[in-house]
Amino acid sequence: MSGLHVGIIMDGNGRWARLHGQPRWRGHFSGVESVRDAVRGSPELDITTLTLYAFSSDNWKRPAAEVGRLFWLLREYCGREQAELVESGVRVTAIGRRDRIPKSAREQLTLLEDATASLSRLHLRLAIDYSAQWAIADAARLLAVEVDRGRISPEDITAAKLNGVLTGGVPPVDLLIRTAGEQRLSDFLLWETAYAELWFTDVLWPDFRRRDLAEAVAAFRRRERKFGGLRPIPDDRPAKPAAERVAAR
Ligand code: FPP
Repeated sequence: MSGLHVGIIMDGNGRWARLHGQPRWRGHFSGVESVRDAVRGSPELDITTLTLYAFSSDNWKRPAAEVGRLFWLLREYCGREQAELVESGVRVTAIGRRDRIPKSAREQLTLLEDATASLSRLHLRLAIDYSAQWAIADAARLLAVEVDRGRISPEDITAAKLNGVLTGGVPPVDLLIRTAGEQRLSDFLLWETAYAELWFTDVLWPDFRRRDLAEAVAAFRRRERKFGGLRPIPDDRPAKPAAERVAAR
């Protein structure tokens, strides 16, 4: 049976840097250590899929120097982390647009994806140049092409069909975490979080460690998920009709 799918919006790198009197990129740099720790700590928390929001399509609006640093960090991460990821059975894939990722980072990413393709202890998904709205539109466009080519009919387009195209079978998000006190989704996994439990923490991403992840997972486990149904209360069973109650005596 598969374990939890946890998604994390890693926020607060810039604030962490300011707090420590350092340039913004140092916040991202320290954020990589938190990525490392979350990945290391996931299996023991029964997390089998971890999706990290590393670069949103809106992040292109940031200064070119910061964008450059972020892709440099990504490239370094993919290169330097490969041995440990392979050793610990972590499969890495990316979601989002690939065509705008700088070539050297894209190449390292592909190498890492290839090197870890057969592993299954943890599926680490890096959302890079990612926009949930774009991903949903892209899946819809793909299905429209199928209709256009006569391979499927419009009636075939169900939520399950769209889900298959959009997620490729990756299970929905169980727990969505956002750090640094903000409480918004920022175009992250909008479809996949339909029934996710949300966990917001004031901890800034560079300070986030596996104990924080464990705290979020523990809170998740205490929650009751009903998926739109009703809580199964034993006393809630319909009372037997009076005649039946008498007959049962
Ligand atoms: C948000 O903090 C964080 C990001 C936009 C980038 C996240 C990237 C990393 C943690 C490092 C690279 C990741 C990998 C997987 C190698 P912010 O800059 O918006 O913080 P602020 O709101 O405090 O300014």
